[in-house]
Amino acid sequence: MSAKENKELKAMIRQAKPDDYPEMDELFRLSATRLCCNAYTEEQLEGWAGCPRPERFMENQSKGYQQYFLTLENQIIAFGILDIANSKLMALFVHPDFSGRKVGENMTQFLLQQAKDKNLNVLALDSSLNAVKFYKRHGFSETGRSVFTTQNGTSLAPVQMTKNLR
Ligand SMILES: CC(C)(COP(=O)(O)OP(=O)(O)OC[C@H]1O[C@@H](n2cnc3c(N)ncnc32)[C@H](O)[C@@H]1OP(=O)(O)O)[C@@H](O)C(=O)NCCC(=O)NCCS
Repeated sequence: MSAKENKELKAMIRQAKPDDYPEMDELFRLSATRLCCNAYTEEQLEGWAGCPRPERFMENQSKGYQQYFLTLENQIIAFGILDIANSKLMALFVHPDFSGRKVGENMTQFLLQQAKDKNLNVLALDSSLNAVKFYKRHGFSETGRSVFTTQNGTSLAPVQMTKNLR
């Protein structure tokens, strides 16, 4: 994408509202099952993203997380979630039909800027195994392994990463 197109993409990022949660949930499930399928078994993906659960975003809202999404022609093509209080990037998902077109890069730059604007010194995240290289390209370093147990009891063992923002 050109610099102009990237700028236009960032201009379409909005803070999510409850009406947006069902579409965000569909995107999450599609993105997890199609873009993470090389890193996880079918059973792990089923436990993680098998069932619709838009209320996960309502729970995020009540925890004070900032939830942003990016639209293109009225379709949500990516979302990202920040927990500013705990200096953490909680989620970043791109619709599989738009993957590899710098949408994730644009969302990451936007989320990093939000974190800097809130005067955070570091940003941490738990990366799915498939996205570790992506985050390394954006300056995050591995710090360890985390534990994440899915709905069916399978574990995803995400990679803990941090980036210095100063
Ligand atoms: C990881 C993810 C956010 C990347 O978004 P994207 O829009 O597909 O990526 P971009 O087009 O912005 O990628 C930019 C660059 O990173 C590379 N890249 C993207 N995904 C990558 C991956 N999984 N591993 C290595 N490199 C990757 C691209 O090839 C591209 O490289 P280039 O500049 O040399 O062409 C997206 O693939 C996704 O939503 N994955 C599933 C959910 C997930 O794992 N989320 C993150 C963990 S919570």
